[in-house]
Amino acid sequence: MLEGKRIVLGVTGGIAAYKAIEICRRLVDAGAHVVPVMTAGAEHFIGRTTLSALASEPVQTQLWDNPTTPIPHTRIGQGADLILVAPATARLLAAYRMGLSTDLLTNTLIATRAPVVVCPAMHTEMWEHPSVVDNVAVLRERGVHIVEPESGRLAGGDVGAGRLADPSAIVARVEQLLGPKDLDGVTMVVSAGGTREPIDAVRVIANRSSGKQGYAVAAEAAARGARVTLVSTVSLVAPAGVEVVAVETAEQMQRAMTAAALDHDVIVMSAAVADFRPNVAADGKLKKRDGIPEIMLEPTPDILAGLGATKRQGQVLVGFAAETDDLVANAAEKLRSKRLDLIVANDVGAPRVGFAHDTNAVTLLRPDAEPVEIDLASKRDVARAVIDTIVSIRSRHRQDPA
Ligand code: CTP
Repeated sequence: MLEGKRIVLGVTGGIAAYKAIEICRRLVDAGAHVVPVMTAGAEHFIGRTTLSALASEPVQTQLWDNPTTPIPHTRIGQGADLILVAPATARLLAAYRMGLSTDLLTNTLIATRAPVVVCPAMHTEMWEHPSVVDNVAVLRERGVHIVEPESGRLAGGDVGAGRLADPSAIVARVEQLLGPKDLDGVTMVVSAGGTREPIDAVRVIANRSSGKQGYAVAAEAAARGARVTLVSTVSLVAPAGVEVVAVETAEQMQRAMTAAALDHDVIVMSAAVADFRPNVAADGKLKKRDGIPEIMLEPTPDILAGLGATKRQGQVLVGFAAETDDLVANAAEKLRSKRLDLIVANDVGAPRVGFAHDTNAVTLLRPDAEPVEIDLASKRDVARAVIDTIVSIRSRHRQDPA
């Protein structure tokens, strides 16, 4: 996703500097060439060696006495495809706003025309101080991309707004800015997670789906320019820019997906929907003393089949198939009977595949093309292959609308 991109990673002196190491690793994993620049303050929190070991070249800190170039600040800024500052302290925000060039990082920020992403992290009192609020507003107005901090636990045991955004959200923003934009203007709804069907006030019938593959599809689509709605039963960190609709049961998911289908161009059902639910859910908690309950099940609606029956012309409908036997034959039957444009079949019995894993291996089936096998890969890589296929289906639809 970031192959060939040169990203300057600026790290300033806040406790969240340790998270810059994770961000660096993720950027390198995504194919970027990472040029790390640390301020003197950052060196109080993390060692140069750690960051140098993970980045694509050694950390730079000095404006002066650079053995390779007398003008590192202009060279670094000119060569960058993007500059990312994470974490950014209140001092960095103020210096950048004022154009103060006191060290290598602030010089680099001023001597570049590349997009800049700034991820502030500080105590709540500082984050809410009028000077910081003002500096952030001015930087934003100038086109600097601000990844806002989250609320949560801060240094010293305090709790509040100011914690550095999640590294995955920061990297997603970078990918959004630098990656291909082949879904620009496209609307997509993705369902994720397993539904939970109530037995009583406490107990549910659930399944093993973690929602990770659906979230990866949503993140990849958003990074490539789509406006994405995620109908989800789980509370993973939402990908940057994605709107989340929280649901729990098959019925709630059906309502949300049917409504979204009216105005979304692409529908992806990656959720594991319960096929059966208790025909009544007890109001209170079933008590042990009343003996073993008899739970009668009834079928849930097949959401995807319903969406297939009402599919609009040009709309792309994608399903998933969780199989343990006869993968291709079973998935092909679902592709046909639910009127899908693509089905992503996974053998959930195979090692490191499917539920709860970070990796997956799938077969992509289309009505009019040979099956494509994606060998064991990260769920994000599988999502990339799914989105590539959706892009190609859409361009085929445009050439041949019938
Ligand atoms: N699906 C759905 N509503 C259901 C059941 C499944 O929308 N009540 C969708 C899933 O989200 C998935 C696809 O249908 O995209 C296939 O789901 P899967 O569980 O593999 O198959 P089923 O159709 O439920 O058939 P079976 O369980 O017999 O394999």
